[in-house]
Amino acid sequence: MAETHTIGVLTSGGDCAGLNAVIRSVTEHASGTYGWRVLGLRQGHLGLLETPPEVIDLVEAEKFYDLLRTGGTVLGTTTKNDPFHIVSSGGAVHDRSDEVVAAVRSLGIDALVVIGGDGSMRLFDQLCGKGSLRWIGIPKTIDNDVPGTDFTVGFFTAVEVVTEALDRLSSTAASHRRIMVLEVMGRDSGFIALYGGIAGGADVILIPEISYDIDALTAHVSRITAGRPNPVLLVVAEGVSAPLCNLAHSGASVGTTIALELQARTGIDARCTVLGHVQRGGIPAPFDRLLATSFGVSAVDLLARGANARLVAWQGGTVVNVPISDVVTGPRKVDHESLLLKTAIATDIYIGECN
Ligand code: F6P
Repeated sequence: MAETHTIGVLTSGGDCAGLNAVIRSVTEHASGTYGWRVLGLRQGHLGLLETPPEVIDLVEAEKFYDLLRTGGTVLGTTTKNDPFHIVSSGGAVHDRSDEVVAAVRSLGIDALVVIGGDGSMRLFDQLCGKGSLRWIGIPKTIDNDVPGTDFTVGFFTAVEVVTEALDRLSSTAASHRRIMVLEVMGRDSGFIALYGGIAGGADVILIPEISYDIDALTAHVSRITAGRPNPVLLVVAEGVSAPLCNLAHSGASVGTTIALELQARTGIDARCTVLGHVQRGGIPAPFDRLLATSFGVSAVDLLARGANARLVAWQGGTVVNVPISDVVTGPRKVDHESLLLKTAIATDIYIGECN
């Protein structure tokens, strides 16, 4: 079994709350329990393309940060420049993956802990496979769309932000009897919209996985506004298609387009709030801290046992691990049979035409 003396930790892809809590957990367990050196690699794989590589001693650095509760990532991250296809200023494409592998080796790193989403898992599967580097993945993303795990680090903080936004929109909407549309992140998957929408009392939740009918949506909104004085709250994931209707709103977000269309159809004032990166920032929610801490411990224990190319995951209330090959298949989607979709339908939330 390959011995581990030094590990490298990096964050990759879009940031979210709870990344620092993972870094803290990995560092404390690896150094405190096993006596390993823990190097933090900066800006994802980009720091490894610098000369010398951008690296910090996490055992030392950790003393100066309050990593459990700090948002973002102290290591920095990147969503750019896939090292297999780096485009130069002249437009030529270069494969610099060998340089990344060589940099890891030059630092004396025996294994990597990669904290990332499904795209980062694909990238490191390729990189580590090519360079025969041992590694473990830890799933993070507000989108909660990494296959193999029920929850990713960062998701519940985003849900909390969406819930609070709906609480706030509810009172201003009630004062004016308005329709309020909240557009949330989620290009491919609707987990944030579904969880945040139910928690925040939405009347409509639209997600990329389920198509909707603008006439049925309008009828739902008209029915609930006729029956009660309360405002109407809609949550729309950014990945939902804009309605095919007569209004041309070129350049407007899907949430704004739906708000304008509903206003035209119902005669009720409508507004849209695009929540954007607010969902990614700030201090992590308690469950994200618990997930981050237990994932970090589990990843280190896996490395100590000589494991390779596994993703730590949350399934059915505990931490398990799954092969990376199960994870690289693409973003996880909301299952049409999921408990929360059924819950939404049972509580008179319009979620589209799912039958
Ligand atoms: O993948 C996470 C995510 O937050 C998506 O929900 C969103 O579409 C995207 O990142 C935004 O990316 P960027 O920060 O590069 O604009």
